[in-house]
Amino acid sequence: MAQLWGGRFTKETDDLVYRFNASISFDQKLCEQDIRGSIAHATMLGKQGVLTKEEKKVIVEGLRGILEDVQSGKLEISEKFEDIHSFVEATLTQRIGDPGKKLHTGRSRNDQVALDMKLYTKDKILILDDLLKELLQALLDIMEENLETYMPGFTHLQKAQPITLAHHAGAYFEMFKRDRGRLCDIYQRMNTCPLGSGALAGTTYPLDRDYTAQLLDFDSATLNSMDSVSDRDYLIELLSALSTIMMHLSRFCEEIIIWNSNEYQFVEIDDAYSTGSSIMPQKKNPDIAELIRGKTGRVYGALVSLLTTMKGLPLAYNKDMQEDKELAFDAMDTVEDCLDLFTGMVKTLTFRKDRMEKSAKNGFTNATDVADYLVSRQVPFRDAHGIVGQLVLYCIERDMSLEDMSLEEYRKISPAFDEDIYDAIGMETCVKRRTTLGAPGQEAMRAVIDLCKKYLDEN
Ligand code: ARG
Repeated sequence: MAQLWGGRFTKETDDLVYRFNASISFDQKLCEQDIRGSIAHATMLGKQGVLTKEEKKVIVEGLRGILEDVQSGKLEISEKFEDIHSFVEATLTQRIGDPGKKLHTGRSRNDQVALDMKLYTKDKILILDDLLKELLQALLDIMEENLETYMPGFTHLQKAQPITLAHHAGAYFEMFKRDRGRLCDIYQRMNTCPLGSGALAGTTYPLDRDYTAQLLDFDSATLNSMDSVSDRDYLIELLSALSTIMMHLSRFCEEIIIWNSNEYQFVEIDDAYSTGSSIMPQKKNPDIAELIRGKTGRVYGALVSLLTTMKGLPLAYNKDMQEDKELAFDAMDTVEDCLDLFTGMVKTLTFRKDRMEKSAKNGFTNATDVADYLVSRQVPFRDAHGIVGQLVLYCIERDMSLEDMSLEEYRKISPAFDEDIYDAIGMETCVKRRTTLGAPGQEAMRAVIDLCKKYLDEN
């Protein structure tokens, strides 16, 4: 057992209590951030004259040495320490002697851990944002290449109207773009530095909190020391944003699983992203897509867990808050892996354009366009809707599609039809004529693609 306290205790901590209380097994993930924060703290203490120049110098050098040795594998983080803060401080003191004992002047583990977690979260948000950007780029590539790849658009998983693959990918582009926006908002809102808040009520030492905030790349210092040490809002916001990212990934995975099925065959998942069956030799399973869909549950779980952990906590710090770490780490790691894998899978998908187009042609996806044709011939829309309903029934009974009907057959149901009906309801025409902003028509899509490119250039 190695802990930073014990002076007022007369007995050793019970073994199980010690293990139950300790956090080193998971908060060692914060080593780099803990050292970065300590270097800023010591630097500030030096500037303020709380530490001598010499003390500050040896402390900072000592801390840098520890980080280097941990990163190179020379120094192992020992789990006999209670937490990462204790490990760093004890190792420092062991290496540089008495000045190491001064590092914690004007600081508590409460503001220290609040800082570490914020630093870690900021670092991770940037990584996740990069991964989202990469995914957006992959989607934009699909959009640019598939303006004329026709497929059915669905509502209720029933074929509805013809769209293009570019349009479908574009829908996900918008979703993941909003996800980036949420990460960016969270980053900005959480970008205040809690260091110097002490245990809960600040400190009597002449700390320069603005200076440490600046050294650590925060916009400013936090304004209430109690809130600083007990605020986990930014983690809850992040877990909510991560849950939304997972929900988006999961929806796309679900579609890829359906599209990859034997019945659809719209896509083929690359061998590198599929797995086989131990018993059925013919199988190539979409396990990665299924796992991403499945892992969505644990990220949602982390959000609900942390909300629940926080709901009854009186101000200020309570040990319950230590529970934030495993949840948040797991969620961040999960989303990082999922985004990485998903982008790889999407980039290597083979789209079976022939199958998509054939599917769009069957299933009366152009029925609305037949109605629109009648409207252009002065038939009121409600009447047109009824006429096309009859046409569809006629086709279903004869197992044919609307394009297969002869003009005579059309005319029997409504005299408003003419030879040009075939042009009007061809797949290409149906899509091309959808020119409203945000629609799948090529002209509209090109304008949107330009905006997407501009967005990626600027963000
Ligand atoms: N391991 C603790 C946490 O993660 C660090 C803060 C400990 N502070 C304390 N007063 N026990 O929250």
